[in-house]
Amino acid sequence: LEQVHLGYFDWSTSMPRRANPLPLALPPRDRHTPAQRWLYDAVRTAILERRLTVGARLPSSRELALSSGLARGTVVAAFEQLQAEGYIESIRGSGTRVRRVLPDDLLQAPRSREVGTVSAPRRRLSRFARRARPFAPVRAEAPRAFRPNEPALDLFPAALWAQLAARRLRRATWSLLSGSPALGYLPLREAIAAYLTTSRGVRCTPDQVIVVSGTQEALDLSVRVLLEPGDRVCIESPGYVGASRVFEAAGLRMLPMLVDDEGARPPSARNARARLAYVTPAHQFPTGSTMSLARRLAFIDWARASNALIFEDDYDSEFRYAGRPAPSLQGLDPHGVVLFSGTFSKVLFPALRVGYLVVPLDLVDRFAAVRSLATRHNAVLDQAVLTDFIVDGHFGRHIRTMRGVYAERLTTLLGAAREHLEDWLDVTPIEAGLQIAAWAKRPLDCARLVTLAPASHLELVDLGRFSWDRSARDGLLLGFAAVDPAEIRRGAAALSRLLASFAGSARARPRSSSASKLIR
Ligand SMILES: Cc1ncc(COP(=O)(O)O)c(C=O)c1O
Repeated sequence: LEQVHLGYFDWSTSMPRRANPLPLALPPRDRHTPAQRWLYDAVRTAILERRLTVGARLPSSRELALSSGLARGTVVAAFEQLQAEGYIESIRGSGTRVRRVLPDDLLQAPRSREVGTVSAPRRRLSRFARRARPFAPVRAEAPRAFRPNEPALDLFPAALWAQLAARRLRRATWSLLSGSPALGYLPLREAIAAYLTTSRGVRCTPDQVIVVSGTQEALDLSVRVLLEPGDRVCIESPGYVGASRVFEAAGLRMLPMLVDDEGARPPSARNARARLAYVTPAHQFPTGSTMSLARRLAFIDWARASNALIFEDDYDSEFRYAGRPAPSLQGLDPHGVVLFSGTFSKVLFPALRVGYLVVPLDLVDRFAAVRSLATRHNAVLDQAVLTDFIVDGHFGRHIRTMRGVYAERLTTLLGAAREHLEDWLDVTPIEAGLQIAAWAKRPLDCARLVTLAPASHLELVDLGRFSWDRSARDGLLLGFAAVDPAEIRRGAAALSRLLASFAGSARARPRSSSASKLIR
């Protein structure tokens, strides 16, 4: 007997009533099962497996009888039984819907994955999959002090973005709907190349620009194209977890590079055999230092001499409040040893998932081939809207506005820290970025402290989690961009109370005495 499509179920409560609903496939009916029993079982199972979600509207008994070829009386009887047992309810003017509280929930019915499945077979996973650790989950709720790594999303000009998107869709072209090359939508690559050449001192043509889904994909793609398991990579310590996760999953051997006031220290002779070094020269993550010119040149010399590459992660250099912006490391490189990556996650919004990777010309085709197998390309509509946003001048304006907003929030944080946190944390002014590395003035078990933060409506991040060697120092990463000045002031006062009670409790044990002077 064949699989039966029982008409169309409007399966979302949030959909307007006239929205085009989606079909729900029900299992085939064997000839020994009475029609009413089969329909009852099929709808009940779909509800318990959450294929029909809470609030989903079922078709009317008339529609269902027509689409299934069953007698209407049979459908009505099955519905009555489901209603009597509390699975569905009939709401005047809204049709028949799946109930909010289901009887089997109360009876602790098996979760959807378990329904109808025998125990899962032993899976054989790739080494890559076994090594992969998931990236930190996205925090969907509104930020509290001091969420780092996030821009002020409430100030993003969403209405303007919607206008640009609507304009594009009204004049939807063939290419907007059919697809773009793996390297990205050409007008966007041109706009990015122009921006990078002018504002970041990057030396490139649009041919070298690959539009990717953020820095994360740029890292993953670079590793796939250039490295083999067992290869050595140098990574800043403390450094970015997004990079270390990719290296770990790829089976690379990570060699920590210590960080000081001049940025990361170039690999030593011991690390001469490393194939790649990952750095954040404009604004070291998470310490905030800017890499000196001498170090930049030393990195390029090292890469040239060891036939290695440098991955330059330029993730938030747009937000500089003092000092001159340091031009990119890539712009100093005449040999083609730097891969330059940037993102729109901080300047626009992270959910856009658009960033760029600038690669030496001779590598472009290999990157395109590898990328075309997985992502194919970013959504063309997003790329087109972003192009208009840049070319029409909104991008430059938005950066200038946000720089002003963040400068004010930074001043607020520094003032509030002087008032409330002076005894505990060294909150020194920074020249760029969206967060401050606040080092503890005395031993402080920050890993434990951050677990207590939510009770004070605080979001704290332990700086210790970014170190890959024993040089970790106690401290907290304090973001100031995502929340307004009032929340920053509240946060500083709440943090000082939390620190005082934490220090007073027996839990404030020092974590270790491995504090190093290397990271400042
Ligand atoms: C060091 C660093 N690089 C890159 C990113 C951005 O990554 P993506 O472009 O994948 O959102 C972040 C975001 O937190 C970061 O801290």
